[in-house]
Amino acid sequence: MSTLPATLFHLSDIHFGREDRQALAWVESEIARWQPTALVITGDFTMRARHREYRAAWSWLAGLEVPLWLEVGNHDMPYFNPLERIRDPFRRYRTMRAGLDRLIAPGEEVLPGLALVSLQTTIPFQKRWPWVDGWIKPEALASCLAQIDALPPGTQALVCGHHPLPERRADGRLLTHGGAQAMEELARRNVLAVLTGHVHDAFDLVADTPGGPLRMIGAGTLSHRIRSTPPSFNILHWDGNGLELHARNFEEGGEGDVLVGAVPEGPAPSP
Ligand SMILES: [Fe+2]
Ligand SMILES: [Fe+2]
Repeated sequence: MSTLPATLFHLSDIHFGREDRQALAWVESEIARWQPTALVITGDFTMRARHREYRAAWSWLAGLEVPLWLEVGNHDMPYFNPLERIRDPFRRYRTMRAGLDRLIAPGEEVLPGLALVSLQTTIPFQKRWPWVDGWIKPEALASCLAQIDALPPGTQALVCGHHPLPERRADGRLLTHGGAQAMEELARRNVLAVLTGHVHDAFDLVADTPGGPLRMIGAGTLSHRIRSTPPSFNILHWDGNGLELHARNFEEGGEGDVLVGAVPEGPAPSP
């Protein structure tokens, strides 16, 4: 395994339509400064999956000269077109992806000894309201585990999804359906960390699961829909042994504490 240091940017919840243009310009300057190996963006590219929002998202992403790994968020499915949401909820997201030529292939070793894998936590409909929370279908978890199991021996996985995986809030309310089982299964495998978004605050925590400890990393938002912290994104440094996280705080020029001490419960408040 190489010991060359490598850098990954983890962004989330840009929400084009409510994006923070100044924060995005700052991210562009950070990309030029740090020259990351790749960008991981964990969903909520748009506000309401409008065509103009997707065009803005595509335009920004296409202008970045960095390999990309993208995950779909709950805001990326049609909001005003229920028929399309039933028939083909991810069509607009797929179209955006298809127009990008720097997507990282599944299983590709993106950093020395590290590969990215996908865990889809977003579904178009569910038996509860609102439909914003996560739901990990059995086939989504099976696909993620198969991606991990197909990696070369010794390669560690960074699992990327949209919703944080904890299944229930402290008061018992359901958050990400299927999250507990997913966390246990991932902890049993060679998973370095789980990267997610959705809650618009950044965190770096270790969960105890029946399968062992599981590191959970959340990225904040680059939109105006902030929760308790300013716009931010994460820089992950990998030296072949450890993954070091620096959450970058837009309001303080990149410095200043921005990590929250617990996974926020539920999505960011609207608007
Ligand atoms: Fe979001
Ligand atoms: Fe979300």
